[in-house]
Amino acid sequence: MTAEGRFDVPAMIAALTPKTRLLMFSCPSNPVGSTLDADELQQLLAVLPAQCLLVFDEAYYEYADFEADYPDCLGLIQASGKPFILLRTFSKAYSLAGLRIGYGIVSDPLLADLIDRLRTPFNINRVAQAAAIAALADEEHLQATLAHVAHERRHMVVALQNMGLSPAPSMANFLYFSTPYPAETINQALLRKGVILKPWREDGYTQYLRVSIGSCEDNDLFLKALASVLAAQKDAD
Ligand SMILES: Cc1ncc(COP(=O)(O)O)c(C=O)c1O
Repeated sequence: MTAEGRFDVPAMIAALTPKTRLLMFSCPSNPVGSTLDADELQQLLAVLPAQCLLVFDEAYYEYADFEADYPDCLGLIQASGKPFILLRTFSKAYSLAGLRIGYGIVSDPLLADLIDRLRTPFNINRVAQAAAIAALADEEHLQATLAHVAHERRHMVVALQNMGLSPAPSMANFLYFSTPYPAETINQALLRKGVILKPWREDGYTQYLRVSIGSCEDNDLFLKALASVLAAQKDAD
């Protein structure tokens, strides 16, 4: 990722070699939330070595597809003629994470057959399948969820910017941002106010946190708590 939280496509291309067998990433990305645009995806597809399998994790697809400028990644990948597995899930926009169900779209039925031979028996149970089919039929509920998340995400971006923060561009149901303070310190202070975020501990990212978009009440509670935690930190400085 670049410092602005966008995909670093030139770096990804530079990392590919004739020996690369697998390129796997999520788009929208987790934890950042950003996406490739059509141009960037096409640049990447154009140089993908023939022996390299693209595993394109589109777990947050429905949120991104709600936005006018999210490209038809599946269509672009299919049109490239490169071998791919594109992954989607019912864990996110459909809120069925506990049922452990998702699906893949593959470039060649042989890939599906190979995965079928490797997967454990009964790994997707019938109750989960029935729920997933019912969820696919309930377009109204999905659209209401997506509209809520898009609206609240915009609201939270503005609120975070008003606190002097710069959340990364996100088409997912979360925002990724840094503060001037260690993420662990902010996280502990937020926990004491009943708010759970995910702080980053990896070198170079220890000031970053990810917050999920929740209900209007939960988001407002988070924004108030964060503003007061940041103000207290500033006073302590
Ligand atoms: C990018 C990405 N892919 C996949 C998953 C997991 O999906 P599932 O619940 O279907 O295993 C997650 C969940 O956190 C995710 O962020």
